[in-house]
Amino acid sequence: MRKFGPTRRAVVAGMLAAGATGQAAVGSGTPSLQALAAAKGRRFGAAVSAADLSDPRMRALLSAECDMLVCQTEMKWRHLRPNARDWRFGDADRIAAFAGRHGLGLRGHTLLWHHPDYTPEWLHRHDFGRRPIAAAETMLTDHIRMVAARYPQVASWDVVNEAVHHETGNLRDTPFARILGERTLHIAFYTARATAPGAQLVYNDYMNWGDHQEAHRRGVLRLLERFRRDSVPCDALGIQSHLKVLGGPNAGGELARRVKVWRAFLKEVTDLGYDLLVTEFDVSDEAAPGEPAVRDQLVAEVGRAFLDETLSTRRAGDVLAWGMVDPLSWLQGFTPRPDGLPQRPTLFDGDYRPKPLRAAVAAALAQAARYHRGVK
Ligand code: G3I
Repeated sequence: MRKFGPTRRAVVAGMLAAGATGQAAVGSGTPSLQALAAAKGRRFGAAVSAADLSDPRMRALLSAECDMLVCQTEMKWRHLRPNARDWRFGDADRIAAFAGRHGLGLRGHTLLWHHPDYTPEWLHRHDFGRRPIAAAETMLTDHIRMVAARYPQVASWDVVNEAVHHETGNLRDTPFARILGERTLHIAFYTARATAPGAQLVYNDYMNWGDHQEAHRRGVLRLLERFRRDSVPCDALGIQSHLKVLGGPNAGGELARRVKVWRAFLKEVTDLGYDLLVTEFDVSDEAAPGEPAVRDQLVAEVGRAFLDETLSTRRAGDVLAWGMVDPLSWLQGFTPRPDGLPQRPTLFDGDYRPKPLRAAVAAALAQAARYHRGVK
């Protein structure tokens, strides 16, 4: 467990950030995010792409602020499996090797993205032959065994990602679900537990506190209840936490209302005995006014309110950002701003300078309840 105070990582980050921008950024006396998280028994980490690691500023930033990484795409079926026969582990291995060299933990994302849009094309067309149930079960278990066994250092797996349709709350329709039904998810969790018995097994999804997400929240809760009924070895709910700046005149009142909705949902989840973790934190500013300083404050306000509520329970564990540097965020392409300005959804700007969202995350980590893994 890390101690407080400026350590090599923090000094490296401070020096590097100063060098990059000509002014001190995260001062060497500022506790790193992973130190703040560790002080309350949790880890702070970030998603990274293999290509990002070629930038020395990124390598230093991750090493200074994080003690856990997750692959943004490199451990997904579409990246690992160009076809039914071949495997493509090079990029995931690169990220795992970087984490190992820098003493960083590794999250696994994801053993099964149970979503038709992110299922490899060849799997949509795959012929499972005369015994499709056995063939589908074999393909799924072989995949999970191969991947989970290759990365025994993974402390926490997103075993299943986004299986619940956000509009209906029902299980999504995929090639596996058409053959195995919901047993698809059971097989995934049982195989993960057998292959990685010490890892935290997570159901990961993007429901959060929006009014339009009530059906999604209900559907996820019903799935978690069925997991308990069917003794499925799922330990935690992964809350992706892709947030948005709230537009409109009464944003403050709206924020307070959403916090109440969110508090009630989280209690229902933890009352079922699940831990929580924040797996893909970022705050889209697509609906915010153009001035960067204004947007940065609104992003920080939403991010802080969400994390304060989510981390107020001792069941809430690790926190990971879905990218640390604005220009590299997936949101630049996914939800471009109408005015064409680049989004500012992460903790650091394009010059690797900390933004108000970094201060907001630091404050939320400092104020958070102490995490007690798996304690009722
Ligand atoms: O690497 C190829 C490149 O060779 C090619 O030229 C280029 C254009 O086709 O595509 C590149 O792959 C892209 C990949 O990101 C790496 O940048 C894929 O097209 C693109 O679909 C992929 O998007 C990722 C997406 O998941 C789908 O895997 C995003 O970066 C990533 O942020 C996003 O992450 C998801 C989580 O896994 C689950 N929760 C939601 C989150 C956001 O959608």
